[in-house]
Amino acid sequence: MKLNIALLAGDGIGPEVIDQAVKVADAVAKKFNHEITWTAALTGAAAIDAVGEPYPDATHEICMAADAVLFGAIGHPKYDNDPKATVRPEQGLLKMRKKLGLFANVRPTFTFPSLIDNSPLKRERIEGTDLIILRELTGGIYFGERGRKDDGNTAFDTCTYTRAEVQRLAKLGFEMAMTRSKRLCCVDKANVLETSRLWRETVQDMEKDYPEVTVSYEFVDAVAMRLVQWPNTYDVMITENLFGDILTDEASVISGSMGLMPSASIGVHTSLFEPIHGSYPQAAGKDIANPLATVLSAAMMFEDAFGLIEEAELIRSVVNKSLEEGIVTEDLSGTNKAYKTSEVGDWLVNNI
Ligand code: IPM
Ligand code: MN
Repeated sequence: MKLNIALLAGDGIGPEVIDQAVKVADAVAKKFNHEITWTAALTGAAAIDAVGEPYPDATHEICMAADAVLFGAIGHPKYDNDPKATVRPEQGLLKMRKKLGLFANVRPTFTFPSLIDNSPLKRERIEGTDLIILRELTGGIYFGERGRKDDGNTAFDTCTYTRAEVQRLAKLGFEMAMTRSKRLCCVDKANVLETSRLWRETVQDMEKDYPEVTVSYEFVDAVAMRLVQWPNTYDVMITENLFGDILTDEASVISGSMGLMPSASIGVHTSLFEPIHGSYPQAAGKDIANPLATVLSAAMMFEDAFGLIEEAELIRSVVNKSLEEGIVTEDLSGTNKAYKTSEVGDWLVNNI
């Protein structure tokens, strides 16, 4: 099979972790006789430095023409501490999500048997956790009207959702629940927010189309608590953009490291695959960042974008093997030897 993939390394540790995912994907492609064409493009602070724009049109064209996008990370500290900066790397990410129509962000959370004790949560709480947070990605407060008034002394961000936006996200949630344990949790704040009441009403209306799915409705504040207390009682969760942003960071704690969790963003045009962690600027260029979230994102890409399940499973199995054998970066090594980012990548390639 010919795979035409846009490669957006981005900022910070992005390029280093992307390099490992490319090595692994190329090794898998060689083994299964696929031909991957990687087309690199600029994004984030790297793109601002080069062309003054965090998601240049040229990058968008490359993404639109590709079968899938593999993405590293975005963000640079020089913008974080400057609230007056008019162009920010993160705007590139939001623009990319919007222009590619990536309305659903699929963030799985699972545990690795060999790492259960790395989680700050107790083993008996997290064992068996296997949940998916389906986060709406192109609506809500991230994209609503915002601004200042009262001579700059009042600021506002508005959260808006249409019924159609909720329906298309919820449809994916119901379909995903059908392929799993047939349980769906709608996370909202319907006791306060009008947008949440629209979410709840819309999902309730859809229940009749999926009679086998059991739907629960829970408030986001309660979910924030239950997610770390009883994560293994959840399966597929659907939620709006900001709640999903917060809950998925919380959920990553369950697996033991931010450096492990992959994600897929899907929607109207080309799907995008990226680690859930950020650009980790403190580690940039040091060859110490954990590449596994990006490698596992490449696995998701093989499976979801190309239907290549065996290839994805091979990547997951060598990743598991590396964890079992302790071929891990410093975030996971504890008192044992810490391997470099590139050494972990090489080890994975050799084992493929
Ligand atoms: C994420 C990130 C982004 C978000 C930032 C970098 C804009 O935190 O992908 O979760 O808030 O969506
Ligand atoms: Mn986030």
